[in-house]
Amino acid sequence: MRATRVELKSPEQFRSMRAAGLVVQRTLARLAAATAPGVTTADLDQVAREEIARAGAVSSFLGYDAGYGLPAYPAVTCISVNSEVVHGIPGPRVLVSGDLVSFDFGVSVAGWHGDSAVTVAVGEVASEVAQLSAVTREAMWAGVAAVRPGGRIGDVGHAIESSVRSHGARYGIVADFTGHGIGSAMHMAPDVPNRGRPGSGVGLRTGMALAVEPMLTLGRAPVATLDDEWTVVTRDGSVAAHWEHTVALTERGLWVLTAEDGGEAELTARGAPFGPLAD
Ligand code: MF3
Ligand code: CO
Repeated sequence: MRATRVELKSPEQFRSMRAAGLVVQRTLARLAAATAPGVTTADLDQVAREEIARAGAVSSFLGYDAGYGLPAYPAVTCISVNSEVVHGIPGPRVLVSGDLVSFDFGVSVAGWHGDSAVTVAVGEVASEVAQLSAVTREAMWAGVAAVRPGGRIGDVGHAIESSVRSHGARYGIVADFTGHGIGSAMHMAPDVPNRGRPGSGVGLRTGMALAVEPMLTLGRAPVATLDDEWTVVTRDGSVAAHWEHTVALTERGLWVLTAEDGGEAELTARGAPFGPLAD
């Protein structure tokens, strides 16, 4: 295997990433609050643009060039509805009660990035759809809580996969996309797969930051990309959910940069070391 160079952050750089993470957290909270039947996804992208301007941050998504000759990403949010898994482009679509919507959002502050996603129910959703989102969120926290200096990336994927499988075989774990390292760019080494073998893969060290982001379906795992070259949908039309946090490995433990409380409640509940830097 080729050696992967992983960016290690200084405490000062983590503080910039925390500033970005808090803008992301605040914006996602506003998006969740503004989500309602009758609202368009373009309206919600506009809400996020206001938050970016107010914070003086820079969108990580707008104009993003993924390479491969893809068109530059045209919005500040990815808004993915129902069978859309990730990378849904905001537009005239009107949300209706029963929809399940994922919001993925990232900004940089002083050149340092934060990236997070939440899934939100519009009005009343079917109980298995609400359950899908809850299981995905739980899998994300299981993955975050498995991050450890001295551990390996496969431990994270294994924790995510085990968490999902503890609910039976009913969920598809999307394997075509992964989480990622993050810092001076949104997408960096290493990949953070949503399945894995314990003790395998890149070693984890203090100074790293990872975006952990499971994507689950209420059906099978295979996905396809629409003609807009961005929107990823389930091949079987099943509903999907997506949750993501950016987590830093500090000398004191884990600091979830995109969680308002730094991850204290969820990490402590899982026996993982909560380790923020002093303000
Ligand atoms: N933030 C997404 C991820 O979680 C990627 C967004 S793609 C972009 O990795 F083009 F919108 F930037
Ligand atoms: Co991400």
